[in-house]
This record gives sequence, structure tokens and C-alpha cells, in this order.
Amino acid sequence: MRAAALYKTGTVLGFVTSRRELHGLRFNIANNFVDNAFVGSYNCLMNSPMLKRATGNWVVGDQFWDREVELSLFIERLMEGAHLLLTAPRRIGKTSLLKEAARRLEGRFLCLYVDLQKAESASDAVVELSMAAQDYKPAWDRVLSVFQHVLKDTVEAVKIKDLSITLRGGLTADNWQSKGDQIFEVLADQSQPVALFFDEVAILANRLLRGSDYTITNQRRQEVDAFLSWLRANCIRHQGKIRLVVTGSIGLEPLVRQAGLSATLNTFTPYHLAPWTREVAGGCLQALSHGHDLVLPRDAIEEMLDHLGVFIPHHVQMFFDHVYQQARMDGLQEVSVALVRAVYQQSMLGIRGHVELSHMEERLKMVLGPKLDYLALDLLTEAAVVGTLTAETGRVLAVGHLGDDWAASLRDVLAILEHDGYLRNRNGAYSFASTLLKDWWKARFQFAYIPAAERRQ
Ligand SMILES: Nc1ncnc2c1ncn2[C@@H]1O[C@H](COP(=O)(O)OP(=O)(O)OP(=O)(O)O)[C@@H](O)[C@H]1O
Ligand SMILES: [Mg+2]
Repeated sequence: MRAAALYKTGTVLGFVTSRRELHGLRFNIANNFVDNAFVGSYNCLMNSPMLKRATGNWVVGDQFWDREVELSLFIERLMEGAHLLLTAPRRIGKTSLLKEAARRLEGRFLCLYVDLQKAESASDAVVELSMAAQDYKPAWDRVLSVFQHVLKDTVEAVKIKDLSITLRGGLTADNWQSKGDQIFEVLADQSQPVALFFDEVAILANRLLRGSDYTITNQRRQEVDAFLSWLRANCIRHQGKIRLVVTGSIGLEPLVRQAGLSATLNTFTPYHLAPWTREVAGGCLQALSHGHDLVLPRDAIEEMLDHLGVFIPHHVQMFFDHVYQQARMDGLQEVSVALVRAVYQQSMLGIRGHVELSHMEERLKMVLGPKLDYLALDLLTEAAVVGTLTAETGRVLAVGHLGDDWAASLRDVLAILEHDGYLRNRNGAYSFASTLLKDWWKARFQFAYIPAAERRQ
């Protein structure tokens, strides 16, 4: 690799002559100061980096691509002691960002990742928080002591096969807050600063708010209020020692707004994670091809990027995976534009692609409940088939589903579809943000769909 100069907003910072030096630099970029010009140079210089394909739900380490600026700003915020509300559309890489930040902060911060995906109550959340401390002995022993009333002694406790069930047995509607407070006390007392990453908070809040019949009642609203206010109170109590990051695959703000509880989020600073830029997505495709011995020429990459429209990391990875499999099946070393087109039509928009779409549909239904979900499906199909959803066509569809009581529900549904990255509003009309998502939706739902304008007639 030839020597190359690094620039930061016009000033030569130095020269690097090896990829190793660049990797060192990458580390510094991620942990100290960074600006886009700097990272741009880094990415240009790394002319043949390799990337391993994603294998699980989220990625870290040698499967994690770019996000250097975002990580750096995120870590900077944590260092300052801010509590963050990480917002982003679906499949952008929120969980991966948290996991990668935790990896890079090891030794400096005690980072606990708390997954609330399966939690059904505030008590479940306290158990998940407690269990997250398992790998940190000094904290773990003291966490267990909070549950002494259900554990005979700590030694026996660690041997219990399903410890979380036992801990759950020690929590009731009356004591979860005080027990949870004690866990926070234990964590605040650790020698290192603590960062708590609460993932899928909105899934729990949504379950609490709507129950299994998707009806918001006063009591349910109070339960959400109690849980979010408890988190907020602990943020304030342990300011400087503990920082919280909350996020999830569905939006928390539209939900708390609907419940009239927006004030519970006002200790959190919003931190938005956007899709990749075209350059970053192109770099990722190139790095994946290098990592898997596949020749992916520039025109094939551009074709892939054109089909995606918006560069959601998961969709970039998926597309590569589909192209890679087809090339291997056909015994090809090099990918052509024609192959990319065929894979997009037959594979991405076909049955394999629909698995991903079904996952997105399930999440939507989880947030909206069956009645509003039907409306959301129609709004999205209208936008996919006709190209845009206007205020008038939205009204026609909403009245068809909900009768006279349509206005507030239509606003709520559109806010969720916009927040979660399905639709975007341009000059008062909505359209799909992602070309892939639009094509997916159209392929799946256009059959027998009657556009709103024709229904009116
Ligand atoms: N930085 C990254 N580098 C490479 N791939 C990534 C990156 N971030 C995300 N991805 C891809 O996107 C997929 C989803 O990532 P992740 O689960 O972190 O997203 P998410 O925003 O948490 O999704 P959800 O909305 O379902 O919660 C990963 O499996 C991976 O394929
Ligand atoms: Mg996630």
C-alpha cells in the first residue's frame, strides 16, 4: 500500500503507509475525535477491506461496517453522562451499534445490555436488568443479595438452572420498584461508570399499554407511566454514574405521545441513527465481496444500490447474500448487472424476500393491533401501487376502515409508519422511503387491490 496523506478539514494530519496503521487510526477515530472528512479519507484509503457476512441478528467486530462517526458521537455523549433515546427506522443497526459500542468501551465502562423483547411486565424488566449483571462478579454478587428473600444463599443461587424464573418469583406488583431501585444502587456503586443499554423498551411499553386486546385503559396507561417514570427517576438519581440508552425496533415516542406520557422521556437526549450513505453502502458491498472471493464490479454495485434506494444496512447485507448465493449456484466468479437484476426480481422480491417482509408486518401488527393494522396495510399498499398517498386518499381509506372516528387514528398510524421508516412525507403527500420496501409491498399486496380514487367512484 502506498503512503497516503490524511486530511482533516484541509489540514494534513500525517501520513500512513500500512493498513495496520490505518486500523490503529480507525480505533482512534472511534474513540476520540472524528470528522467526516477524516473518515472519508480513511474509507478511500482502505481500498480493499474485507468484511464477514452477518450471521446472527446483529453484528459486531469484523462483521461491523463503518458507523465510525456515529459511534464516536455516541460514545462522546455517553462520556458526557447523557441519557440517550436512540431513534431510527427498522433494521438500521441500532442493536449492532449498542453491541459494538459496548465492545469498544470494555475496560472503561461497565456496559450492560438489557433486552426487553420478551418482558411482559415491569417486574420482568427488573429481572432482565439483574440478569444482565451476571458477567460482572462484583456487581453480580450484590445483585443476588437483593433477591435473598427467594434465594437461600448466593452459592446455591448460581447453580439454579433457570435463575431468572427464581428471581422473577421474588418480585411482585408492590416490590418491583424498590427491588429495581436497589439494583440501580448496586450498579451506581461500581468502580467504573455504568452504561445501561435497554433494547426493545417500546415492545414492553406497548404490551403494557394495549394488553392482548389492544385497548388502552387508564390502568394500563398508569402501568406504562410507572415503568417509564421509574427509569427516569433512576436516571436522575444516578446522574453521572449511570447513563441509560433506550431504543427498540418500534418507536417509543409515537407510543408515549399516544398515551399522553411524553414527559417521561424528557431526561433522554434523542440520538438519531440514519441509513448508510450510498458511498458507505457501496463500500460495504465491495468489502463483503472481497471477504467472500467474489468479483463485484462497480456497475453491479451501482445497480444494487439503485434497487435499494435507501441504504438500510440489513437490506444491503441481504442483497449481497442473495447475489452471492446465486453466483455460487451458477458457478460464477464475477457478478454481472444482468445477474443483479435477475436476483432482485426473482429472489429479493420472491418468497425468500417475503420472510423479511413478514417479520416487518408482524412488528406493525404488534404496535397497531388488528383494526389499525388493516388500515396501515391499505395505506402502504396505496402508496406502493399508486406511488403516493395523499391527504384525500388517506381519508377515504381511513373512513372505510373506521367510519366517522377516523381522523386521530389516521394521524397515529401515519406517525408510526413515518417514524419506523416505511413512509416519508414530501409536500404533504406520503411515499415509500425505500425502493426495495415499495417493490416488496407491491409484489405482495397489489393483487386485487382497488386504489382509493376508484373506491370513491
Ligand atoms: N454496522 C453494520 N455493519 C454491517 N451490517 C450491519 C450493520 N448494522 C446493521 N447491519 C445489518 O443489519 C442487520 C440488523 O441489525 P440490527 O439488529 O443491529 O438492527 P436494528 O436496527 O436493531 O433492527 P430492529 O429494527 O429489528 O431492532 C444485521 O444483522 C446486519 O446484517
Ligand atoms: Mg434491534
